[in-house]
Amino acid sequence: MTDLQAIVEEIHASLSPRCGEGKVADYIPQLAHVDPQKFGMAVVTVDGETHLAGDADEAFSIQSISKVFTLTLALGKHGEGIWKRVGREPSGSAFNSIVQLEQEAGIPRNPFINAGAIAITDLVLAGHTPKEAIGEVVRFLRYLADEEDIIVDQAVARSEQATGFRNFALANFMRSFGKLDHAAELVLGVYFHQCALAMSCRQLARAGLFLANSGTNPLTGHRVVSHLRARRINALMLTCGHYDGSGDFAYRVGLPGKSGVGGGILAVAPGKASVAVWSPGLNENGNSLLGSLALEMLATRTGWSVF
Ligand code: DON
Repeated sequence: MTDLQAIVEEIHASLSPRCGEGKVADYIPQLAHVDPQKFGMAVVTVDGETHLAGDADEAFSIQSISKVFTLTLALGKHGEGIWKRVGREPSGSAFNSIVQLEQEAGIPRNPFINAGAIAITDLVLAGHTPKEAIGEVVRFLRYLADEEDIIVDQAVARSEQATGFRNFALANFMRSFGKLDHAAELVLGVYFHQCALAMSCRQLARAGLFLANSGTNPLTGHRVVSHLRARRINALMLTCGHYDGSGDFAYRVGLPGKSGVGGGILAVAPGKASVAVWSPGLNENGNSLLGSLALEMLATRTGWSVF
């Protein structure tokens, strides 16, 4: 057992008694069925070591973590031109807020709030049918994680499709400013499916490894993005990845990270490792309560904070 394995196991064991704290997301009805006791951790190092604890091999709804990967796809497709459609500033608002959209003429603050992610998905959809675009996103995740066993949870996608009124409002609002190329139904068809991707901590940590290794997946040797692009995506994760909790996450953890309302967080320790944690109970900002604590402990124990 390496030191890192011991650290991961210790963190998991010390936080396990608190499983069930926080509030499981229920505004997407299907997510409310998740067992609040679940808790998994996966650390995959750039040297190829994998350290797991708890429910690290159980698939969960990655939700907004998918926004890191669609941003990567959109940058690959359209380059820096995407910044005409979306900003690069923290919003200081909730992930699903609409307020700034009116003040800022349909340009969302960043690619990770819902409005920004919908704008990014609109760009991923360019030249595709929604079905093709969903296929592209799923194939990209399989390529990054180097695993075929990654699917969309159709029940979650349907659940969100049926209740995502606020996302329809955001999309139509952007379209009213001429800032969305496709009809809201088409863009959101893709967006709901990307959010409904089901992945385990292990798969997610592997998929994020290129961001920890200057753009190249060290396990497969695939160069996914340039060093500069990896650095920039990490910068956006650090400043915007936890919505109005981004400052607090940077203060406590000090790593680029992206959360999802399914209770997952992907964190990147540049030059060191990619980390995924999952615990469904959320804090007041909609980020995993135990997951944030686990990452804070990991950053403290390993000294991996970027600061
Ligand atoms: O659009 C939504 O509301 C969800 N599919 C994703 C939100 C989310 O994960 C926010 N993250 N903490």
